[in-house]
Formats: sequence, C-alpha cells, structure tokens
Amino acid sequence: MEITPFATEHFFAHYEFNTPYQLCNSDCETVSISELLDMVNVSLQELGRLGLGYTESQGNPQLREAIAASYATAVPDDVVILGSPVEGIYLAARAMLEPGDEVIVLTPAYDALVNMFEHVVGVERIKKWIFTPTATGWELDFEQLRRLISPQTKLIVVNFPHNPTGFLPSSSQLQELVSLVEAHGLCLFYDEMYFGLDHSGTPAIPSAADVSKRAVVLSGLSKTYGLPGLRSGWLIIQDQALRQNILNWKFYTSICPPAPSEFLALAAWRVRDQLRAKNIAQIEANLALAGAFFERWPGLFTWRPPMAGSVALVEMHVPSVTAVAERLAEEAGVLIHPAVTLGSDDQHARFGFGRAGFGQALHEFESYLQAHDIVAIERDADERG
Ligand SMILES: Cc1ncc(COP(=O)(O)O)c(C=O)c1O
Repeated sequence: MEITPFATEHFFAHYEFNTPYQLCNSDCETVSISELLDMVNVSLQELGRLGLGYTESQGNPQLREAIAASYATAVPDDVVILGSPVEGIYLAARAMLEPGDEVIVLTPAYDALVNMFEHVVGVERIKKWIFTPTATGWELDFEQLRRLISPQTKLIVVNFPHNPTGFLPSSSQLQELVSLVEAHGLCLFYDEMYFGLDHSGTPAIPSAADVSKRAVVLSGLSKTYGLPGLRSGWLIIQDQALRQNILNWKFYTSICPPAPSEFLALAAWRVRDQLRAKNIAQIEANLALAGAFFERWPGLFTWRPPMAGSVALVEMHVPSVTAVAERLAEEAGVLIHPAVTLGSDDQHARFGFGRAGFGQALHEFESYLQAHDIVAIERDADERG
C-alpha cells in the first residue's frame, strides 16, 4: 500500500551526514554517553552490566514513574514508553481512528503528523487548519478551526512548541482549543516534542496532558534534551481502553523499548533541567546571531522570530528555496531546509537554532551570500526554466 513520501526525513537522509555547515536542525546539541553518565555520577561499568534481554512492553516502571511525576495529573500507568518518538505518531494514527473519521491537522507540520493520519483515513478526510502569518510572527485562527469541525470529525492534531514556526499558544488559546475538543466530544493528539524549550519573554504553558484527559500527548528526549540518538519517547494516554489499543499496535512495531536507551533515558531524566537549560542558552545565543543576520539582509528574508522551541519558519524572497538549498549544499557545504517538505510553500525555509555549530554555519552562509547574488542567480535560472 502506498504512503506519501516522508519528505523531511528523505531530505535529511540525503544531506545531514555529508553537509558540514547546518542551519536547519530541529534537535539541540547532544552529549556523549560518558558526559551524560558523569552528570549523574554513574560509571560506564554500570551501563556495561546492563542485560540485553527483552524489557517491559509498556516501559521500564522506574522510568514511567519518573516521567509521570513531571506532569501534574499523569500517573505511571498513563505513560507508554516508545521505541522512538515518531513511532507514537504511527501508533496514534492506527489506534485512534475508524473508517469515515475526519481529522483536522494544524499545518504546516512535521510531515508524519499529516501523512500518517492521511494514510489511515484518506486524503479527503484530512482538513488542514492553516497558520496565519502576521508581520512579526504566526497566529492561530480559531474561526477557521470552528468551520472545519463537522459531525465526522474525530481528532485534532497539533504540535506546540510548533515545528516549523516556533509558535507557542497562550494559556487561554490552549484552553480555547481544549474547550472546543471537549464541547464536540473529539480527541486531541498533541505533540510536545519541543516542550520546555521556553524563550525569555514568552509565558510557558502547561502540558496538554494536565489540561485535558482527551489529549494524547507525545513527548521525548530528542529535541528539548538533545538526545535524539537514544530514540527515547513516550505517550501520555489517560484513557485506559485507548492505551490498551495503542499497546496492542505497539506489539507489531517495537514490542518493547531498547534496554540501553531506557537506562540512559532514566539517567538523562535525573539531569533534565540541566540539559534543558544548556540547550535554551544555546538557542538564545543563536537567535541573537540570527536576528542580526536577518536584519543585515532585509531584501532576502522576512524574519518571524520563534516564541519557543528550537526552530523558526523564515520567508526567503527567491523563486525557489529548494533550488537555493541544493546550490548552497553543493557549492558552500551549507544546509538550509526547504519548508515545502513540511507543507509550506517554496518561499520558506526552516531554520534550527539548537546546535553549537550554528554560528560558524551562519558565517559560511553569509560569506556565500556576499560573493553570490543568489536572487539574481535564481531569477535567471527560473527564467531559463
Ligand atoms: C514535531 C515532531 N514530532 C515528532 C518528531 C519525531 O521525533 P524523533 O525523530 O525523535 O522520532 C519530530 C522530529 O523532527 C518532530 O519535529
């Protein structure tokens, strides 16, 4: 059976490991196993003694307890540890829907959040709730959302802090969303992969799991804590029947989480505030560089600074960001990410601010821009067809 190509992952599979200067990563700077174990005073020998047998299918009880304690309302039973964060999207799409159901998806979006649900219900049953650009940022249009709700609507899919815009709703907007979900008897799939990457100036909001029992929340260690190689993620599911259904689907995908990953996830969770603070400091330093850079190139970019998270959606005044990205990777070894893969148009790029190499990559990008009039080059290439 066909499924829409996962364009973002194809793009990174092609470029991520052979392009030296990267401006578009959504994760934050990582640490080594030794650095992580040093932070928690655990020796490498202890990791070495870990058995490599099967693990508990819902997840290590200690890890579930530690994670549940970080939510105001969740209990360990509500936590399902995944084989990877992206697996949670697959499982939710499989377990939460019946034939004929309609799904409303906030777009642009990380493509799995659209494509997996579309695969299950069919393209005609996916309704897109589209972000509205403003002069300085992005806004949610609740009137648009109300118009999209029909008697067939089963589920609303959102992600905050948002990839790719960097938008974070206010507490009252979160409440408005939850009130709509509850008033219509819907479910909410709420992706919180960037939870806690708070920027100064933006009021933090609670986890959706603590606001509504109808929310199924996806979270993990990849972005906020800079540990994507652990493939550690979890779902908070407070509805017992749905949790059992999701666990059944999970037996077909990963059965149980990898033991080394759970061991290291538990270690990371003990120092999560430290990891998160380090990553927020990196993001804020990189955002300062980026803001100054975009100000120096007002004809080329429209900069809508993110409110939270590690990414932003930047408008580029060129005929095709995809063509610029290919040229840049090839000629300058600089990677920018065309946001068409996320359902945006080809005049937007997603930038990412969590990596330590961002400043150097930005410098390489600017040197290339100074040496090449990319607007003229791309316009001529576009006219030649
Ligand atoms: C919004 C969102 N959800 C889920 C994921 C999947 O996370 P992982 O790659 O760690 O499985 C990503 C990764 O980019 C993401 O941006």
